[in-house]
Amino acid sequence: MGSAITGWGEALPERVVTNDDFAARLDTSDEWIVARTGIRERRMGGTTSELAIEAGRAALKSAGVDGSEVDLLVLATTTPDQTIPATSAVVHDALGCKGGAFDLNAACAGFVYALVTADSLLRAGHRRALVIGSETLSKVTDQDDRSTAVLFGDGAAAIVLESGMPDELIVAYDLGVDGAATPLLYANHGGYIHMEGREVFRRAVRCELDSITNVLTKAGIGPQDVALFVPHQANVRIIEAVNERVGLTMEQTAIVLDRTGNTSAASIPLALAEAADAGRVAEGDLVLLSGFGAGMTWASAIIRWGQEGLAR
Ligand code: COA
Repeated sequence: MGSAITGWGEALPERVVTNDDFAARLDTSDEWIVARTGIRERRMGGTTSELAIEAGRAALKSAGVDGSEVDLLVLATTTPDQTIPATSAVVHDALGCKGGAFDLNAACAGFVYALVTADSLLRAGHRRALVIGSETLSKVTDQDDRSTAVLFGDGAAAIVLESGMPDELIVAYDLGVDGAATPLLYANHGGYIHMEGREVFRRAVRCELDSITNVLTKAGIGPQDVALFVPHQANVRIIEAVNERVGLTMEQTAIVLDRTGNTSAASIPLALAEAADAGRVAEGDLVLLSGFGAGMTWASAIIRWGQEGLAR
């Protein structure tokens, strides 16, 4: 039995930080940031659990489901509120969910890892999962370091995943990690993000290209068969470089990074939720999700959109 995405929702902190806000106190400019990254503003504020609860609540509402009908919660985050317990425990309690809950850290590929994990557990017998990506990256970014401060933001988005579909949700997926690349992008406990930007950029393009090629091949489809491409929202130049090599167009691609910056595990569900709200996906459409990040970690999935035939 397969599963379907039956609801989605998002949460963004109210405080908007524009490129000009950075330019007012750091040696940078709106022109530099937009030209190198495509980012114009990002949101900052809240805690990872607060944002996750708000996004989770919105997703439950959109699915018409009560928290008590959820029997699995997976929270993808690299910025948990505390070391112990998992942030998902706090979210599970606030939303009144049943069953198990756990945090999953696969950096900016976290949401796709979480989706694949939740879908597998639904096939193993769970009924309904809440899958959330939530981050407060502003807390682990040195706001005085122009090379990282301008890139990251805070936010969350969630989906409800329900079993009961005749067909599988995930047509093909690919998960990977190369831990030897850890020195390129990391944050120690209590420390800030350290990043070798240029090398991360180069590897991001390469590993996303390989991962997308892998899932397209597994699914037996070409780029033209993808109705919507939802990439990790780190840098529009990375997305353009990948698209050009894969043969995807910007018209097929969901972009929110101009307004959110890089929100790590929240970026793919934020872009997916916005595209779904805008009616950019229809029953039966193939949607490609692909993320990469610290590790280096990567994950891609091709999913079939829609809930026709769902037995509830
Ligand atoms: N404003 C102005 N100048 C800046 C700047 C900023 N916000 N940040 C860095 N610079 C400077 C650098 O200090 C460097 O100056 P120098 O030549 O005097 O040393 C110069 O700009 C060029 O830096 P470089 O690293 O070559 O720029 P770039 O074209 O590679 O762009 C990034 C920098 C960070 C935007 C780019 O490397 C990038 O996006 N990398 C991937 C990052 C990412 O997505 N990480 C998350 C993965 S999940």
